[in-house]
Amino acid sequence: MPLKAEPILPRFGAECSGLDLTRPLSAEEVKQVTDAMDKWGVTVWRNTGMSDADHVEFSRNFGYLEKVMRREGVKYRLPFPQLFDASNLNVEGEITKDPGAIQYRKGDRLWHTDSAFLEKRTSYSILLAHQVPSKGGNTGFADTRSAYDDLPQDMKDFLEDKIGVNSLWWSRKMAGADIPEEEIDARFKARHPLVHVHRGSGRKALFIAAHTMDIEGMDKAEGRKLIKELIEHCTQPQYTFEVSWNVGDMVIWDNLCTMHHGCEFDYENEKRDMRRTTVREGTEPHTMDMGDDPYGDLFSKSPKLVDINAARVAGR
Ligand SMILES: [Fe+2]
Repeated sequence: MPLKAEPILPRFGAECSGLDLTRPLSAEEVKQVTDAMDKWGVTVWRNTGMSDADHVEFSRNFGYLEKVMRREGVKYRLPFPQLFDASNLNVEGEITKDPGAIQYRKGDRLWHTDSAFLEKRTSYSILLAHQVPSKGGNTGFADTRSAYDDLPQDMKDFLEDKIGVNSLWWSRKMAGADIPEEEIDARFKARHPLVHVHRGSGRKALFIAAHTMDIEGMDKAEGRKLIKELIEHCTQPQYTFEVSWNVGDMVIWDNLCTMHHGCEFDYENEKRDMRRTTVREGTEPHTMDMGDDPYGDLFSKSPKLVDINAARVAGR
């Protein structure tokens, strides 16, 4: 049965069905998925029945999967290093009370692209729901291609060669974490063009996120004002929709033409167990090892270690 795609907005997002994602896909089926992704930017797959192993195997069709650094003496909740823990749970599967972890997750509620703070960008993020709250916890998505299309020509001209400076810690600061700017400046920052051609569609897209702290060559205050305005532009209702999750649902989004954010829910009282694979831009399918791990490197150099993926062993 061929893939069927029902649009969510006229040019952005589609609910997809017709493929059994628990079985290995043929090359033709993989192409159907990537064609749908290039067209729609976000695809939503309901009630997939996928296990953690299915999730990782399916994701390998699209490139190299980033891995969570595994440290000795630390227990991990999830069975594969390719699964990022996007839950509000600790290693025992209970709601975390760790203030560092709670604060860290607040940054995910701001509009962002995954891994914009790394040198090697992420193409697809593939998120699978294992447990969902009774209310809230949606994920919002924004169309940065159509938002770019609708910018006035003088703004397009102005942005053409501009470079954004991105830091994980900036988004955490924006979400209320107490991190002095000098400390952010001492840590790794990634430079990415604010406008790029989305390879799969040939359309131009904005590449901005809550991680984008400055624009090279611009006064800091002016650059930050412009970043805020561009995020507000992209997240207007005509460019956005929310996915409401049920267990077994999977969403793939292409970070190179979208932004997303987590919506509020009662994270102190309700469990939300979401697991994500993360495909590195421009890599070959089924690549098992690329010899480096940008996430591990980034966290190991951070003075205040907050590693949400490596839930601390109780008592440590
Ligand atoms: Fe994210």
